[in-house]
Amino acid sequence: MEKQLTVISGDGIGPEVTREAIKVLNAIAHKFEHHFHYHHVLMGACAIEKTGVALPEDSLDSALKSDAVLLGAIGDPRFDNDPTAKVRPEQGLLQLRKSLNLFANIRPVKTYSSIRHLSPIRTPQLHDVDFVIYRELTGGIYFGEKRLSEDGTTATDLCSYQKYEIERIARMAFAAARQRRKKLTLVDKANVLETSRLWRKTVRDLHEDYPDVELNFLYVDNASMQLILNPAQFDVILTENMFGDILSDEASVISGSLGLLPSASVGEKALFEPIHGSYPQAANKDIANPLGSILSVAMMLDHFDAHEEAAAVRNAVEWTLANGFVTRDIDSMNYYGTSTIGDLVVDIINNEMPQHINKRNVALGHTTII
Ligand code: IPM
Ligand code: MN
Repeated sequence: MEKQLTVISGDGIGPEVTREAIKVLNAIAHKFEHHFHYHHVLMGACAIEKTGVALPEDSLDSALKSDAVLLGAIGDPRFDNDPTAKVRPEQGLLQLRKSLNLFANIRPVKTYSSIRHLSPIRTPQLHDVDFVIYRELTGGIYFGEKRLSEDGTTATDLCSYQKYEIERIARMAFAAARQRRKKLTLVDKANVLETSRLWRKTVRDLHEDYPDVELNFLYVDNASMQLILNPAQFDVILTENMFGDILSDEASVISGSLGLLPSASVGEKALFEPIHGSYPQAANKDIANPLGSILSVAMMLDHFDAHEEAAAVRNAVEWTLANGFVTRDIDSMNYYGTSTIGDLVVDIINNEMPQHINKRNVALGHTTII
């Protein structure tokens, strides 16, 4: 296949992790005879610096013309600490999501047996955890009207949803559940919020079309507790934009690191990005975990129906984790650099599963296997 990809490396550790993801994509292209064309464009703080806006027009144009977007991360503390800033890196991402109509954000969460003991959560809870969050991405409080009174003492963010916005992502979540363990949990706050009651009613009505899927409801406060107490109970979680944002960061702790989680945002177009942020403190230190970005590439390959290729990426990633090749976020005592992990994943894709590996050579940055 031949695909045009817009690459937005972004800020902080974004460029480093994206570099590794592209290495992996190139290995896949070589092995399976595909052609990926990369169009690198600016978004986020780096774009504001160069152009004054978070999402320059030609970046958006490129994304609209491409088959998919690969995104690193955006954000910069200079803006976080300045509530009066008129332009912010995040505006670029929100505008991009809206312009590409990426209404469904899919965030899979699983545990890996080899690193379970490194999770901050006790091991018994971590067995058989494998669920996916369907987060609505272009509506709700993120996109409702925002107001600040003239005297600066009252602020409002409107949370609004229309039935069709709920239906289109709910159908995707039901369909996903059907392919998995057939259980869908809608997370909301229907005891308080009108929008949540609309979610409940809409999802309950749609359930008629998916009678083979078990549907249940959880309030978001309870869901946040259940995620830690008993994460294995979940199969597909469906939720609105902000609840999904918060719960997916929480859920990442279960895997052992925020740096491991990939995501796909789909709708009219498709965008793939790790769920972590730009983590500026770690930038240019070769300590960022590239696996969230590399696993996002696997999701992109699945999106292109290249399932064997996606499996090759996932197997290689699992091999690195199973053999103790992890970055510092996962094991602060024994860790390897961002680019070393990327090289390893590439080597494993090229060489199939190696039998022997010289850890010393890996640490020294020599190519690795054999
Ligand atoms: C995410 C991020 C974004 C969000 C920010 C950067 C606007 O936290 O993708 O989860 O809140 O959606
Ligand atoms: Mn988030």
